[in-house]
Amino acid sequence: MKCWTSFILSILSITLFACVQGQVGQNVSGAYKNGMVVTAHPEASKVGLAILKKGGNAVDAAVAIQFALAVVYPNAGNIAGGGFMVYRSAKGETSALDFREKAPAKASRNMYLDSAGNVITDLSISGHLSTGVPGSVDGMFEAHKKYGKLPWNELVQPAIDLANNGFELTERQANELNRERTDFIKYNAPTNTYFLKKGAWEKGGIVVQSDLAKTLTLIRDKGRDGFYDGEVADLIVKEMQVGKGIVSKKDLKDYHSIWRKPLIGNYKGYEIISMPPPSSGGVALLQLLKMVEPYDLRKLGWNTEKSIQVMVEAERRVYADRAAYLGDPDFYKISLLELLAPAYLKSRMADFSWDEATPSSAVKEGKLSKYQFGPAIMKKESEQTTHFSIVDREGNAVAITTTLNNSYGSKVFVQGGGFLLNDEMDDFSIKPGVPNMYGLVGGEANAIQPGKRMLSSMTPTIVEKDGDLFMVLGTPGGSTIITTVFQIIVNVIDHDVDMQTAVDAGRVHNQWLPDTVFYEKKGIDSLVLRSLERKGYHFKSRNAMGRVDAILKTKWDYLDPGADKRGDDSAMGW
Ligand code: GLY
Repeated sequence: MKCWTSFILSILSITLFACVQGQVGQNVSGAYKNGMVVTAHPEASKVGLAILKKGGNAVDAAVAIQFALAVVYPNAGNIAGGGFMVYRSAKGETSALDFREKAPAKASRNMYLDSAGNVITDLSISGHLSTGVPGSVDGMFEAHKKYGKLPWNELVQPAIDLANNGFELTERQANELNRERTDFIKYNAPTNTYFLKKGAWEKGGIVVQSDLAKTLTLIRDKGRDGFYDGEVADLIVKEMQVGKGIVSKKDLKDYHSIWRKPLIGNYKGYEIISMPPPSSGGVALLQLLKMVEPYDLRKLGWNTEKSIQVMVEAERRVYADRAAYLGDPDFYKISLLELLAPAYLKSRMADFSWDEATPSSAVKEGKLSKYQFGPAIMKKESEQTTHFSIVDREGNAVAITTTLNNSYGSKVFVQGGGFLLNDEMDDFSIKPGVPNMYGLVGGEANAIQPGKRMLSSMTPTIVEKDGDLFMVLGTPGGSTIITTVFQIIVNVIDHDVDMQTAVDAGRVHNQWLPDTVFYEKKGIDSLVLRSLERKGYHFKSRNAMGRVDAILKTKWDYLDPGADKRGDDSAMGW
């Protein structure tokens, strides 16, 4: 059905959108074969499409989009954050780039605890001490060094132009900036003027960022050294001193992103290529898919009592493993083979019953033969991250998820540099057992150590079918990232829908602790909900989960986009 749906939508699109060829409006399917970008902001999508059209490949477009998002989507787009890239070439070679932030050398296990051992509220979430050593600029530089086709300066220039000339705020952005005003003042007193103005921000308001343009110009001209050395590094360190931050010049100089082997698993004949640790995303996604694979989800129905039940039960078991076993593999040995072994995953579902919910209190991490790190408690993770998906003319594909962690990160601007610092340190288990911002708990595997990368949930993913590209996807959403990507894959593969329908569908999420099934309002039929409540499931409705930006390649080779209506996300193709 999805192929026919896509085909029919493609034909409709040719007719309806001939007058806007080259640009797919938000959430509109298009008949494009030469390339496509789907990002969180129309200006960033325009930049990416222009790079593809001038002969750049998917990685060139990714680099340009990452820098453009730092200008036009400052709540999550960044130069002082981090992220992960999953890449698949048109020939089928795959790689994964880890440009996750690291704990500074002066970081220590108990740095967010008071003398009585209690967590000091907000210290890991806002302000200078919440900042990890940024990875994004090095990540883009490495990605470009390995795969880039166009010159580096041509990829950074569009972001400089957007910063110098200004961009128009969407209504959502204007409202967000108005909400952040108090924090921007609080965490940047007394010097800050960035994103502050007399009166309220309004839709269509123009934001010019001259200091950010200067920083980007240094990055354009000096590559990674334009950020990790010299003037910008000095500004970061000076900013650290204002608020007792600990990122040093040496931390910046020593930062390096790491090429890792992507995690590849199979789900119903599709190859799932995703991010390995220090993201928990790939492991958890592959565990979830394998755990539900024996069930005919299509037959059970879409968001029906039975399909929700089996997916939620898999989720609570997977998140229990996440809390106990996952962390930075360079610091903690992770038994991926065991965690992903079919027999192990089958055993995890052995106590699942159609008759009643398994209480989370009865679920512990699975027993592995060699490694036991627990105990752990789940904590809450920030949801303000961003994802973009790209396919170029040759068929190379990039999935990047990148973040400052919280919305606008630490809320601290580097004065003179014009950019925001991340608050990624909160993704560590700041006190093993105590929940973070997303309610996720972590154990020893994710405890703070100098130079270590904090565990992430980001799940940039590429799906392959019969040796060909099939889907590129990912989403922000903190702890809900993994279950959102899981549901999109199931929507497309099991329920056979087109990309936008898969993205639009209501979402459900369980993360073991709390023992609650979160659902988007209107995401589940109320009768299904009541029935599941009678079986012992605890439901809580919440606002939107995730903002998926995805591309499906139809069997006619058209690129079918899914740009999430939960945000200002936009797909553009040619
Ligand atoms: N900061 C959100 C994540 O990395 O999962």
